[in-house]
Amino acid sequence: MSVNKSIRVLDKDTINKIAAGEVVERPASIVKELVDNALDAGAANIRIELKDSGKKSISVRDDGVGMSRENLVLSPVKHATSKITSLSDLERISTMGFRGEALAAISSVSRFEIITKRKEDAGGTRLYLEDGKQTISDIGAPDGTTVTVFDLFYNTPARLKFLKGDATELSHIAAIVSDLILADPHISFTLINNGKTILSSPSSDLFNSVVDILGHDAARQLMPIPTYASKSDTKACDEIQKILADTGVQIEGFISKPSFTKTTPDHLFFIVNHRPVTSKELIKAVRLGYYTKIPNNRYPAAVLHLTIDPKEVDVNVHPRKIEVRFRDEKTLIRIITEVIETTLRLNELAFQVTSTDVKKVIDRPFSDFGQKGKIGNADESKKDAGTPSESKKDVDMQSKPKGDSDVIKSKSEKGIDFMQQKTGSAAVLAQEESSAYSDFKTGASSGSKSGYTAPPKDTEKRLKETERLLSASQKSPEKNARPSEISLLDDIRVVGQISNLYILVEKDSGLLIIDQHAAHERIFYDLLKKKENVSVQELISPAVVTLSPKEKVLMDEYIPYLEEAGFGISEFGDYSYAISFVPIVFGKMEDVSTIHEFIADLLSFGKIKDESGARETIAKRTACRAAIKAGACCNHAQIEELIRQLKCTENPYSCPHGRPTILVFSRKELEKMFERI
Ligand SMILES: Nc1ncnc2c1ncn2[C@@H]1O[C@H](COP(=O)(O)OP(=O)(O)OP(=O)(O)O)[C@@H](O)[C@H]1O
Ligand SMILES: [Mg+2]
Repeated sequence: MSVNKSIRVLDKDTINKIAAGEVVERPASIVKELVDNALDAGAANIRIELKDSGKKSISVRDDGVGMSRENLVLSPVKHATSKITSLSDLERISTMGFRGEALAAISSVSRFEIITKRKEDAGGTRLYLEDGKQTISDIGAPDGTTVTVFDLFYNTPARLKFLKGDATELSHIAAIVSDLILADPHISFTLINNGKTILSSPSSDLFNSVVDILGHDAARQLMPIPTYASKSDTKACDEIQKILADTGVQIEGFISKPSFTKTTPDHLFFIVNHRPVTSKELIKAVRLGYYTKIPNNRYPAAVLHLTIDPKEVDVNVHPRKIEVRFRDEKTLIRIITEVIETTLRLNELAFQVTSTDVKKVIDRPFSDFGQKGKIGNADESKKDAGTPSESKKDVDMQSKPKGDSDVIKSKSEKGIDFMQQKTGSAAVLAQEESSAYSDFKTGASSGSKSGYTAPPKDTEKRLKETERLLSASQKSPEKNARPSEISLLDDIRVVGQISNLYILVEKDSGLLIIDQHAAHERIFYDLLKKKENVSVQELISPAVVTLSPKEKVLMDEYIPYLEEAGFGISEFGDYSYAISFVPIVFGKMEDVSTIHEFIADLLSFGKIKDESGARETIAKRTACRAAIKAGACCNHAQIEELIRQLKCTENPYSCPHGRPTILVFSRKELEKMFERI
C-alpha cells in the first residue's frame, strides 16, 4: 500500500460521495430515508415501487404536504433541512429526519428526481439532478411528493459491486418496510417490486399490522401488554402502571408466549417514539423478562412501542438513525424486564398443543417414526428425552408471515436452522437428558418393565428433599409462591405414568402431560434460588477430582460460588481437588462419580461471565442432578406430591432451561384432532 506524501483537501464531489457512504449503504437505506421524509410530511398513504429490488429504480410516493418550488430546489442541498433550526432543537426531536443530509447523499450517488405539489398550488414542480446538474420544470402532479432514485451507484462502481443479489436486497427492503409499518400502523403502506406486491398494510391498529408482518400463526402466539387503552383487565393494567410509575416511560405492544421462540432476534421489534430502532440492550432486557421460560439460544417475538420524553433519548448516534442512546438505560432495561415478567405471569403459560401441531406430526411419513415403526420403542423415548419437543419445533415452523412473498419467507425460514443446529445449550441439554436416559437404561429403569410396582427409593428420597425445603421456605410468607394463581393444576385427576418419563393428568377441560424430570427440576431450581442457608452433608470419603490445566483455571473461578452453594472444596495437589461436603439436595452420596460428572458438566460451560451467571449455572446443574430422573418409576402418591410441589413454583410451565414441563391438550383441541368437530 502506498501513502500519498502531500496532504490535500478533497474536492466537494468526492467529499459528498464519501459522506453518502454513511447514509446510503444499499437500496434499503434509501427506502428508509425516503419513507422517513414522507412520514415527516404527514403522509397517510405511502407507496414504494422498485425495479430490480431497487437497483434500477426506487420510487416513493406520498400524499403529504409537498414542497414549494424554493424548498424543492434547496431539498437536495447538504445540511438543508426544515426540521431543526438550532442545536437545542436536537434535544426534542419529534421528526424522523433532522440532519438535512439524506437527499444530498442519495442524489450524489444516483440519478435523482422529485415531483412535488402542495395542496394550495395549482400545479406541481419537477426537479431532476444528475452529476450535480439540476433542472427544474413545471409538471402536472397529484398533491404530495414522489421521489425517484434511478441507477443507484452508477457513478461509484466500487460500491455498486458490493450490492448483493436481488433477493437479498429485496429482503432488506422488506425488513425495513416491516419495521416502519409496525412503527406507524395507522399509515397505509404498499411495497411493489417489478409490478408484484410484496407487502401491503392498510391503515390499521398495531395488532392488525402485527398480523400483516408476522402472519396469523405467529400473531396467535402473542399477548398484549396490559394497558388501559387496550381495555385489558384493570388489575393487570394497574400492575404494569406500578412498574412504570415515575419513570416517564410508557410501554405498549405484544409479546409472545414462551412456547413461541425463534433462533434469531428477527421477531423482536422496538419502536422508540415512532422510530424503529435496533438495540442489543433492549433485546437483552426482553430475554431477561423471559428468563428461564425459554431456552438460552432462543428468542421470543415482541413488538414494543416505547414512549419516552425526547429529552431522554439521543437519536443522533448512528449515521442511518437506527440506533438511539438512552439517558437512563438501566431504568429502561429494568422496567422492560419487569413489564415482560409481569405480562407473562398474568397469562396462563402452559404449552398448548393445537390440532395443527399434531396434524404436522401425523402427516409425516410413517417411516419417520423409526424403522420398526413402533411408537414408544426405546429409541423413540430416547429421542423424546434428548431433544426439545417436536410440537415446539412445529409451532415454530408455522410462523411464516402470510402471503407468498419470497422475501419474507426467507427471513422466517431461519427458524428451521434450529433443527439441524445442536450447539450451545441445546447440545448441553441433549447431553444431560441422554445421560438421564442412560441411567434409565442401566439401573433406575428396572421398575419400568413391571409397571407401577414398588417405587424406587431414589424417587422417594428426591421428592422428600424438595418437600423438606418447600416447607422450610413456606415458613417465610414473603417467599411463598403464588399457588392460588395457578389454576391449570387445580381439580385434576392423575391418570398415570408413561414410559417412566411422562405423567398423564386429566382435567374437565382436557389432558395434561407433565415431564416428571423437567417438573422436578423446576421445583428444585426455585428452591435453590430462594434458599439462604444451604444444608450440607459430609461425604464418607472425599471425592478427588483431577482436572486439566484449562479446567483448573475455570475451577478456581467457580470455587467461591460452589462453596456458597454448599460444596466443601480444597486443593489436593497441583491439578486435583478434594470435595468433602456437598449440598444435601444431592441426596445420600453413595456414588462419587456423580460429583465428577457434576464438576465436568459445570466446567463445560466455560468461563464465568458474571456473578449471577455463575450462581445461575450452579443452581441449574444442581437442580438437574438432584431432580427425579426421566426413567424413574413414580407411584400415584409420588405423582400427586410432585404436582403439589410444582404448583408452588413461580413458573410451573417450563424447566430452568426453558423447556416445557406441561403440555396441554384442551378438550376442544382433542375433539378437533379426532375430527369430531
Ligand atoms: N417527501 C417529502 N415531502 C415534503 N418535504 C420533503 C420530502 N422529502 C424531503 N423534504 C424536505 O426536504 C428536506 C431535506 O430532506 P432530507 O431527507 O435531505 O433531510 P431531513 O429529512 O431534514 O434530515 P435527514 O438527513 O436526517 O433525513 C426536508 O427537511 C424537508 O423539508
Ligand atoms: Mg430526511
